[in-house]
Amino acid sequence: MIRTSNWIDEAKVYKAGLSIEEIKEKFSLERVYKLASNENPLPPPEGLLKVLTSKLEDIHRYPSYVRPVVQAASRYYEVEPGQLVLGNGSSELIDKLMQAYGEPGSAVLISEKSFPLYALCAQVHRLHVHKASMGKDLRVNIKEMLSVLQKNKNIRLVFISNPNNPTGSYITHAEVEELLSACRDKDMLVVLDEAYQEFVRAKDFPHSLSLLKEYPNLVLLRSMSKVMGLAGLRAGVMLAHPSIVKSMKKVICPFNVNILALRAMLYCFSDKGFKDYLSNSKQLVWKGLDYFYTELNRLGLEFYPSQGNFLLFSLGRSDAFSTLLKKGLILRPLNEPGLEKYLRMSIGLEQENKKAIELIQELGNDFCE
Ligand SMILES: Cc1ncc(COP(=O)(O)O)c(C=O)c1O
Repeated sequence: MIRTSNWIDEAKVYKAGLSIEEIKEKFSLERVYKLASNENPLPPPEGLLKVLTSKLEDIHRYPSYVRPVVQAASRYYEVEPGQLVLGNGSSELIDKLMQAYGEPGSAVLISEKSFPLYALCAQVHRLHVHKASMGKDLRVNIKEMLSVLQKNKNIRLVFISNPNNPTGSYITHAEVEELLSACRDKDMLVVLDEAYQEFVRAKDFPHSLSLLKEYPNLVLLRSMSKVMGLAGLRAGVMLAHPSIVKSMKKVICPFNVNILALRAMLYCFSDKGFKDYLSNSKQLVWKGLDYFYTELNRLGLEFYPSQGNFLLFSLGRSDAFSTLLKKGLILRPLNEPGLEKYLRMSIGLEQENKKAIELIQELGNDFCE
């Protein structure tokens, strides 16, 4: 076997959520519910389907629509076109930021119990990872992050998922400013990964776009896989100072976003009718979250309120994931120390949420017997 580098030997493969078809076949089930990947359960609007299917005759050409999409996105986010980079999902942008700004021997600072891709990408780019601990509230702890920063001079990038996947918690505008002002003159990027920001109901959530002008080392990531419903097409956006955009363009492969994804992005950023889809998606998530809070309370199960389109709850047993799987409910188990008995559940359609509660209740009863 050909040897890889030690860094790659030790890297882990990102585990995507299990597929409905896989579980149907494995357990001979007719119906399987998947609330595992924080996707938008609403199917795409007709207008978007039309845009995607009406013009397929040019797919033998490389995609050449980046400029109009960047312009539409710049109007949407109210930034200059030079402050934007489009990505093959925001995952690609996470990876490329590490490639562009990580140097041999340098490190990335993240919080424990946050999005696993940060640590996986860091390893692949031969970067060390420092993790700041969280308190019992499962919130990213800015004081801890600042203390790790103080002690480790090799940190080049800080990644914060806000709201945080998987805990659903968030840091406030004041906390973000505290971190940014502490990092103001340091040679490092502060990346706020705001994949779920559209679902936030908290009033003191950061209005991060307003901070871009003041902090040239601030990077914002926006996924289009969540509220915008483009998970299957892979689309994401980075917003930052033009100098960071310039560096990113050096490491991103040509034609990273495909023709269909670009067309879908243009539609999302410019079609007036798409606002209804966004609003329906948010309403669905808020209603679903409130439903889960009520039902989990009724069942006496522990959970954490969430600002995302998912929440963490516990059935008090580490075999809950596999038992629910056999009943046809795919949730997301967590490998984080201290959260072994917790499951992350995405908000689905109303009937999917009801079914999930039915199966969770059934399981609770089985455990009591
Ligand atoms: C916090 C966070 N960031 C980024 C991503 C990746 O999203 P994308 O589909 O845009 O690559 C996810 C996906 O679940 C996420 O939870």
